[in-house]
Amino acid sequence: MAIEWIRLQLDSTDFDLARFRPYVDKCRTSGIRLTTLSELGDTPENRRALYELNKECSADIPERGEFHTFDEYHRLRIDVPSYDPRGVVLALDGEEWIGMAATSDHRGSGYVFNEMTGVRAGHRGRGVSIAMKTFGIGFAGLCGVSTIRTLHHPANTPAIAMNRTLGYVDADW
Ligand SMILES: CC(C)(COP(=O)(O)OP(=O)(O)OC[C@H]1O[C@@H](n2cnc3c(N)ncnc32)[C@H](O)[C@@H]1OP(=O)(O)O)[C@@H](O)C(=O)NCCC(=O)NCCS
Repeated sequence: MAIEWIRLQLDSTDFDLARFRPYVDKCRTSGIRLTTLSELGDTPENRRALYELNKECSADIPERGEFHTFDEYHRLRIDVPSYDPRGVVLALDGEEWIGMAATSDHRGSGYVFNEMTGVRAGHRGRGVSIAMKTFGIGFAGLCGVSTIRTLHHPANTPAIAMNRTLGYVDADW
């Protein structure tokens, strides 16, 4: 049976920064550093670490199936015009990469796209995904657009709820 994907959209100019900034502050005070792959260095080593984090978190996406090999991941997600390391937000606890929120640039079509948001299982439920997406909200503006889109499996309740908390609404794109 065909999956009825949940299509969500946010206008970044409507984003309630004052409401969500405390999540960013809470990360900082609890020792979690928010940064981007661009700031950290878009190096082969860091791309490999991003892949490992994405692979681990993707195991919890309903019906995700087997994850890409690194070569496939690189070809499909990194070696593409929409990839921009400034859109890849990372959460680090010391040296450990505990979360990612990757957004790609589709300005030619008028939007950016939230590709993957993931938090390592032991760090979930503490607002890290909200903090990462708040930290990265300016990426849409960097791309000259305000529309942010994302797509979820209908059974992915945590991810859908997380985006609705941030103000994403159903869309028919
Ligand atoms: C979705 C995911 C990124 C959420 O990360 P997180 O850091 O645990 O989420 P947060 O603590 O920031 O929670 C933010 C909001 O999400 C919702 N949420 C998070 N976990 C939830 C759960 N298990 N059930 C229902 N809602 C949940 C809540 O609305 C929550 O806000 P609240 O605490 O004010 O109620 C995480 O569960 C994950 O990595 N899942 C696997 C990967 C995945 O499915 N990614 C999405 C596909 S791209």
